[in-house]
Amino acid sequence: GRIAKLKDSPLGVGGLDERLKTRRIVLSAENFDESIAHAAHIIRAGGLVAFPTETVYGLGANALDAQAAAKIFEAKQRALSDPLIVHIATTEALSDLMEGGWSAAAPLIDAFWPGPLTLVLPCGPRIPRIVTAGGEKVAIRMPNHPVALALIKAAGVPIAAPSANLFGHVSPTTAQHVLDDLDGRIDLLLDGGPTTIGVESTVLDVTVNPPQILRPGGVTREAIAERLGIRDWRLGIHQSPIPNPQSPASPGMLEKHYAPNARLIITKSLEDMRTRHSSLVARHFKVGLLLMAHEQAAFLGHTPSFVLGADLISMAQNLYAGLRALDSAGVDVILVTQVEPVGIGEAIADRLRRAAAK
Ligand code: TXA
Ligand code: MG
Repeated sequence: GRIAKLKDSPLGVGGLDERLKTRRIVLSAENFDESIAHAAHIIRAGGLVAFPTETVYGLGANALDAQAAAKIFEAKQRALSDPLIVHIATTEALSDLMEGGWSAAAPLIDAFWPGPLTLVLPCGPRIPRIVTAGGEKVAIRMPNHPVALALIKAAGVPIAAPSANLFGHVSPTTAQHVLDDLDGRIDLLLDGGPTTIGVESTVLDVTVNPPQILRPGGVTREAIAERLGIRDWRLGIHQSPIPNPQSPASPGMLEKHYAPNARLIITKSLEDMRTRHSSLVARHFKVGLLLMAHEQAAFLGHTPSFVLGADLISMAQNLYAGLRALDSAGVDVILVTQVEPVGIGEAIADRLRRAAAK
């Protein structure tokens, strides 16, 4: 719907056009300080700045300013029932934003911050309730990216930031992905190059004992369990149940999310992929393939296809770029082979499953 509308507009996708207003700054050593200061000024003035983190690009606003946070929901076309992650640059900022002590979370903060772990904590009085979607818990993370950390420090306020894509769409791992979804809807885009992890942070509720994973992500279940000295299954079920759409525990758990326009089909094996590919092509569907390096030989010369890499780390890095690239190529169906939900594979399998949901 809305994605198709953007594509059909005379503006094109990613092309230069005077009517598109978002300023993009490609960061360099020479312009870094000045650009961060400019971006921080926009944040303090209640504006929207998209910036890179190690996971995906975020769409940032002053987390202490309800009106600024409201603009995020508007720009993303996101439902007000979906809470935002608050980004901080120092652990000192934490005690200010949450209620009570954070001793239960201390070992995790020690081990994984800055990094792709979001902690759901009791919310303190300074956070406007629009940020938590009215709830009593707030999600907080310290990103491990020099641009994100510099921006938060320069702004002098915590920054609320969801992924910088239209709601329900594939998250952005490059500045161009951000523009493809949000050009003209935000004040500034800081281009710090492609993100390194490529899937979002792990969201972990630490208000319950043992903590529960609400969304698998960049920090693995195995690493969290090891740090806490517990068995990893105790951190919650591997495959979240189909949530109640009225009150999902975490809307990132919505069954349909992270989705390309094309229909995504997860195949059981390379053999299964070959069979389905032949039958789809015979029925005149335009088929795109998301392939691991070792699968390439089975489909030599087939276009469009997108090679994700040789291992799960590069698969995570390139997954969203692959989905977006095949969408741009105008395919009807995308095929990918299933991934074992172990290590970072759990986050990949989770995103594929949601992207494939009808
Ligand atoms: O890696 C990331 O987490 C990226 C970068 C920009 O930091 N951010 C991101 O934000 O993915 P977003 O809004 O696209 O996803 C945040 C997820 C959603 O599933 C949301 O429902 C959940 O975190 N969440 C946020 N606040 C929550 C809360 N108070 N309780 C439960 N879940 C929460
Ligand atoms: Mg998101």
